[in-house]
Amino acid sequence: MRAASVAGFSVPKLCATDSLEPFGSCRLCLVEIEGKRGYPASCTTPAADGLVFPLNHLN
Ligand code: FES
Repeated sequence: MRAASVAGFSVPKLCATDSLEPFGSCRLCLVEIEGKRGYPASCTTPAADGLVFPLNHLN
């Protein structure tokens, strides 16, 4: 989620805050990651080299 924000994309969120460890309960920030099954919560998914987010799903 923070990597997307730094790159200029906004991901909707509800339960993620800067004052708590992410716990992924609201599921509002689900994203698609190329090559991964399902839709992980972006607030609990660590950024890593090689992660690709299809841009048509971020706005
Ligand atoms: S913001 Fe709630 S699960 Fe990510």
